[in-house]
Amino acid sequence: MSEDAIRLVDVKKTFDGKDFVLSGMTLSVPKGSLTAIIGFSGTGKSVMLKHILGLYQPTSGQISVLGTDVTRLSPDQMTVFRRKFGVLFQGAALFDDMTVLENVSFPLVEHRRDLSESEVLVIASQRLKQVGLDEKHYGKLPSQISGGMQKRTGLARALALDPEIIFYDEPTTGLDPILTEMVDNLILETHHHRQGMTSVMVSHDLEAAFRIADHVAMLDAGKVLLFGTPEDFFKTDIELVKKFVAKGMKQGMKQR
Ligand SMILES: Nc1ncnc2c1ncn2[C@@H]1O[C@H](COP(=O)(O)OP(=O)(O)O)[C@@H](O)[C@H]1O
Ligand SMILES: [Mg+2]
Repeated sequence: MSEDAIRLVDVKKTFDGKDFVLSGMTLSVPKGSLTAIIGFSGTGKSVMLKHILGLYQPTSGQISVLGTDVTRLSPDQMTVFRRKFGVLFQGAALFDDMTVLENVSFPLVEHRRDLSESEVLVIASQRLKQVGLDEKHYGKLPSQISGGMQKRTGLARALALDPEIIFYDEPTTGLDPILTEMVDNLILETHHHRQGMTSVMVSHDLEAAFRIADHVAMLDAGKVLLFGTPEDFFKTDIELVKKFVAKGMKQGMKQR
């Protein structure tokens, strides 16, 4: 039996006591999978992610991550627990006044007090090498490197603490098609490079989701409409899924 990295059971969330942004979400993300979360804008993808990261508390329901009930952790416990996660959001969110190498070293300096300065630098350099960034850029500031290199640096930083789960929220939104493909491939390579790591990617790009993910969850109105392999999405009878897939694939064709 395969284990789940993340399990949500009937999770509901209302911010105002009236509208439910999550309306009974149930989802199991298999350990070691690369799972894509898709769905129209405003369907609760980012809110769901923030619940998994412990940034929001559900109004009701259960959320367990790596076997731990995260809704029961205190803020301090959650801070420690979050070291098991790597996170890369839309912008790379690098520190402007730190070099590439310092940016990647930052989580190690913060959380790995057991490491010496030179050990930190060795690990940070390894991570940068893994994401394909040449050594000659390590001393540069984020403003002195290209958008693609900034993404690579953000990814290296997300990988710094050797996460068990890495989360991407719309990692390619706003990027040109060439950079989009590069980042998608980097996500895929990173996933295969790290045995056992679970990758969760929220994406508006259906073609990319179906190309690189092994599991896909489509959300609608704060619920999971369909969870399965990419193949399952092309075989489904659910009208809304069919419509979403047809539209998404057509848009992808237009961009080419
Ligand atoms: N902190 C918040 N307070 C109130 N409403 C929120 C908050 N965050 C998100 N929402 C609402 O929840 C819904 C889902 O948002 P979100 O998860 O960001 O959508 P998406 O699927 O595009 O990522 C939206 O209607 C949004 O306005
Ligand atoms: Mg979002």
